[in-house]
Amino acid sequence: MRVDVVTIFPDYLAPLELSLVGKAREAGLLDVRVHDLRDWTSDRHRTVDDTPLGGGAGMVMRPDVWGAALDELLAPAGAPGPADGGVELLVPTPSGEVFTQRTAERLAERAHLVLACGRYEGIDARVAEHYRDRGVAVTEISIGDYVLNGGEVAALVVVEAVARLLPGVLGNPESLTEESHGASGLLEYPVYTRPVEWRGLVAPEVLLSGHHARIARWRRDQALERTAVRRPDLLAALGPESLDRHDRAV
Ligand code: ADE
Repeated sequence: MRVDVVTIFPDYLAPLELSLVGKAREAGLLDVRVHDLRDWTSDRHRTVDDTPLGGGAGMVMRPDVWGAALDELLAPAGAPGPADGGVELLVPTPSGEVFTQRTAERLAERAHLVLACGRYEGIDARVAEHYRDRGVAVTEISIGDYVLNGGEVAALVVVEAVARLLPGVLGNPESLTEESHGASGLLEYPVYTRPVEWRGLVAPEVLLSGHHARIARWRRDQALERTAVRRPDLLAALGPESLDRHDRAV
């Protein structure tokens, strides 16, 4: 997968060199390129923003600068016509649709993601409109109901959540099957390791029993209880077919 991130703070994306995403890049599974938006400015001061039309606080990012950057990144050099179908433009913003594991799964199918990180009061609204009109898939995404100073941290979140779903990136792909926000729709059960007793706290005995069916049932019950307490909205969203006879008793 190819990922282009455009920002006025390229250094903010340095963590993409590390850990799992860094390894995926080294292994050639992920081609991430971070670009400085100011490289597409044409004035001496490398200006990327201006005051909001209609007045108000802060600054708005200029559509012409973003247009120059995105024209180049969305349409690979020499490609005729509109940008290719495998690409999606992502614009992190607190007013976007909420980014979830389902979004990450959908994006992991794409060949190419372009992330446009806004700062200040955001990017002129015509930028998203223009690329939609040109037939580009554009999604404005929020990573949660809080306000960050810009889209960079959200871009890190999206790239990490998507990268770990790409084939070959996780050492043990089974890690994907039982985790929170996975297929069960439940939060993950609590996990334990050695020592069995630590500071007077003893790990649940069932986990030492070697009885796979009992362990599976215990984990399922724990996941249900946890979800009911912490995220009742997730439990409420599960259809009756997602719960078995034992589940209903928990
Ligand atoms: N930019 C500022 N706040 C944001 C948020 N919550 N999600 C995505 N991008 C943002």
